[in-house]
Amino acid sequence: KIVPVILAGGSGTRLWPASRDAFPKQFQPLTGDLSTYQETLRRVADPSLFDDPVVITSDAFRFFARRQAADIGVKATVVLEPARRDSAAAVAAAAAFAEKISPGSMVLALAADHVVLDDEVFRDAVRLGLKAAEAGKIVVFGLVPTEPKTAYGYIRPGAALGDNDDLCLVDAFVEKPNAETALDYLRQGFLWNSGNFLFKASQMLAEFGKYAPDIGAAASEAVDKASEDIGFVRLDPDSFSTARKTSIDYAVIEKTGEIAVVKGRFRWSDVGAWDAIWQVSEHDGEGNAVHGDGVVLASRDCLVHSQGILTTVIGAEGLLVVATPDAVMVAPREQAQAVKGLVDALKEGG
Ligand code: GDD
Ligand code: MG
Repeated sequence: KIVPVILAGGSGTRLWPASRDAFPKQFQPLTGDLSTYQETLRRVADPSLFDDPVVITSDAFRFFARRQAADIGVKATVVLEPARRDSAAAVAAAAAFAEKISPGSMVLALAADHVVLDDEVFRDAVRLGLKAAEAGKIVVFGLVPTEPKTAYGYIRPGAALGDNDDLCLVDAFVEKPNAETALDYLRQGFLWNSGNFLFKASQMLAEFGKYAPDIGAAASEAVDKASEDIGFVRLDPDSFSTARKTSIDYAVIEKTGEIAVVKGRFRWSDVGAWDAIWQVSEHDGEGNAVHGDGVVLASRDCLVHSQGILTTVIGAEGLLVVATPDAVMVAPREQAQAVKGLVDALKEGG
């Protein structure tokens, strides 16, 4: 069986004012009743394929992580990072922890902040990747790109690894190329990296040994010296805080030759900004998506996301309206990415 490890330690500034440092997007119900963290737990709640999940997150989010799992009847082990060291250290700690609790185990590391619309298709992709992972490959899940986004990793698939053309070797992996290169990759048939990784724990630790031994050592020591605290596993702060701050993609995935890709057929969004939330939400006949207490009249293609307040919109087109009890954000859909700059400006001002 596979140990699912959910990386739930990031923050999402482009979804302000709903997403805040103290209550980040993965724990918020942004598209329906459940948070993407909970939807991710559901995606791997299939006992024929997966063990109980492990969640790795910041100390500050420990009660969200435990409570939201319990609310959907999932028994998760919550591992706490004493400091935010980005995803490389988190994945190394996840691999070391999985190897400690069940030696020889297989790990599926999952982002906590994505929307996948077809969970069964996703699980099929995982099943397809298993053979390659058992043979010592780090398996990534690629998706056919729709635009030259610079926020993603790009994968050039190589030769098929067996009789199924959806499982291939990887000729190149490039994290976050510039816009020109991304466009070039799009034309050459590269895939987007969906940000989920399937691997043997011992293999991932070996890759860290080769390409980022400092991070591997810091994370392994933090796991060895971990303590238990009211049911949470606390990584050792002195060891973990020495880990270099970088992502798994830069630290290992770009560098290793031991990598394979499954072409994912599932519909996916990393819901990075409000326009993406609008896209994956349910719409009325006019293309409006309304969450919470909202009323939309004579409008088209709008998102109204309302928390704890009544929000009304009349005669608008393509507008994002996000209202929370203490802050409101209104912007045309094309400007959704600019929210990050807005939040930076607010932080400087305050
Ligand atoms: N536990 C923990 N600790 N989790 C973290 C940390 C950390 O310090 N930092 C990030 N994460 C989690 C995030 O919550 C998210 O679920 C996942 O790790 C990926 O981190 P992001 O910061 O969102 O990465 P990204 O979006 O820039 O890039 C990754 O995802 C893209 C797809 O959305 C890369 O894998 C890209 O190659 C990929 O295309
Ligand atoms: Mg992301």
